[in-house]
Amino acid sequence: MQEVRVWMMSGRMQEVRVWMMSGRMKVARKWKRGVSVLKKADRDWYKTAVFYQIWVRSFADGNHDGIGDLYGVYEKLPYIRSLGVTAIWFNPLYPSPNADFGYDISDYCDIHPDYGDLDQFKKVLDRAHELGMKVIMDLVINHTSDEHKWFKESRKGKDNPYSDYYIWRDEPNNWDSILEGSAWEYDETRGQYYLHLFAKKQPDLNMDNPKVREEVKNILRFWLDMGVDGFREDVINFISKREGLPNGIGFLPIIGSMMHYKDGPHIHEYMKEFREVCDEYGAVQIGEGPMTTIGNALKYLSGNTKSLDMMFSFDHMTADCLFTEYIHRPFKLIRFKKAISKWQYKLEGKAWNSLYLENHDHPRIISRYGSEKFHKESGTALAFSYLFLKGTPFIYQGQEIGMTNIRLSSIHKYIDVSSINNYFKYHLKDDEKSRLHRIHVSSRDSSRTPVQWNSGRYAGFSDVKPWFYLNPNYKKINVAAQEEDKYSILNCYRECLALRRKSKTLIYGEYREYEKNHPYVYMYERRLGNNAYIVIASFAKEKIPFVLPEKFRGHVCEVALSNYPEKDIAGKRMILPKDFLMLEPYEAMVLRVKYK
Ligand code: GLC
Ligand code: CA
Repeated sequence: MQEVRVWMMSGRMQEVRVWMMSGRMKVARKWKRGVSVLKKADRDWYKTAVFYQIWVRSFADGNHDGIGDLYGVYEKLPYIRSLGVTAIWFNPLYPSPNADFGYDISDYCDIHPDYGDLDQFKKVLDRAHELGMKVIMDLVINHTSDEHKWFKESRKGKDNPYSDYYIWRDEPNNWDSILEGSAWEYDETRGQYYLHLFAKKQPDLNMDNPKVREEVKNILRFWLDMGVDGFREDVINFISKREGLPNGIGFLPIIGSMMHYKDGPHIHEYMKEFREVCDEYGAVQIGEGPMTTIGNALKYLSGNTKSLDMMFSFDHMTADCLFTEYIHRPFKLIRFKKAISKWQYKLEGKAWNSLYLENHDHPRIISRYGSEKFHKESGTALAFSYLFLKGTPFIYQGQEIGMTNIRLSSIHKYIDVSSINNYFKYHLKDDEKSRLHRIHVSSRDSSRTPVQWNSGRYAGFSDVKPWFYLNPNYKKINVAAQEEDKYSILNCYRECLALRRKSKTLIYGEYREYEKNHPYVYMYERRLGNNAYIVIASFAKEKIPFVLPEKFRGHVCEVALSNYPEKDIAGKRMILPKDFLMLEPYEAMVLRVKYK
């Protein structure tokens, strides 16, 4: 059966041949080379971009079944654009049994029926492009779902053509998985153990097999041919495992085995192969790099092993925890500043930072580094603290209205595999209340509650009961209410992005931190030539005097942004005090300074 469809893309006619093959849809590469090939330099758009991240299941329900989908996304594209956003990163949209909500993929070249289909995706993609937004997909190639065709074949036996697509052993080693118990699971059919660094239903692919790498390149081409602009690459620094899979340090759970697969022996060879495909299209590649050091990150980001344009680092996400949110400790601003500054300084002139405070893997930032009591103040102070750093900002859905953590009354209401695993595996001797508290402060489910669009029934997310719990604070915290309020967090994000957009200094200027040992104030500068912006943000819950560094005392500047409208200083000239600046709780400002 053969069918030819014609898709419109940015004004050009692109012909793509679609045909049905063994019951599933495949799209063949049928583009004339040269049409889709961009010069490498064109990829630099990412440096001026601002990304919005969509975890589609909880974004907006467009077809009335309580589940977010691409119909809902389509309707909200103008809203996303109105923020000043110029690119979208979609979390996995592919068919998946959802053991890890999309990160267990059962078909890389299709759309999950809950979210729509390939046609609807293409509609969203074209509309986003028309509105001036690029689109990148999530590429999850460290593992598949155990329901992927490759795995179903592979488990059949050693003679199967897919036998070596996964990592099979007669005896497991001592590695722990990151999401669910041992990293090995026995498969009855095959009579061997398979490796899964994440959940049991996420068997790791054997990237040492050249056939697997060819499959990856076909996946890249499939989406690039359709017109997507790049990829966010899931746990990409884990895909090459050390030969022989030696035991890790047994008494250190998870971390103890990471040295055998993090930034592994062949990683840069494999990354080079994928980069070559992306280079044909000028596609952007952004890698997720859990636990990566700056030294290792720079190997992906620069020099002759350059394979990625940006990397998501994790250092600044542990200012209130150790390695992972589950091991909670009180937030310390100094830890946050130190991590940020380290990446800002070390990448200067060599590589480009990605900037984020939230995503689908972390609880909400106001509940962590800010204060729910000072909701608006801390939400905007946090925005000032990262949107003007050097790099490309990412905003996670709901962050722009300051959504906060949900606190469900029982572990049985949680659905995230890692929260459930943590609850039933660790701290078993503690009482239930404190065990649940650990989940409240750490669960990824907090970032996965439906987006709060208005105060109506089901928060405007859907007109039927949503698939997951709404945060009960939606009546107060929602998009519609914040649209009405000139000084809302939402409108503050808009103002920040507008300021960034028109300033070369805020894009290309050098970063410098001041008063780095101050426990409550984050102060940094971005400077290009004689022009500079200075951000001052207090993280204190009370009013505090802040003594400025000497060189700024008495200096004349202009207040570009302020998060205390009642002070009425925004847009005005200000002579910086010689003694101290009195800062209200979570007061933050962006100052424009001219050097002579
Ligand atoms: C990444 C994803 C996370 C997922 C994991 C395994 O860290 O962001 O959501 O659970 O990889 O795919
Ligand atoms: Ca739906």
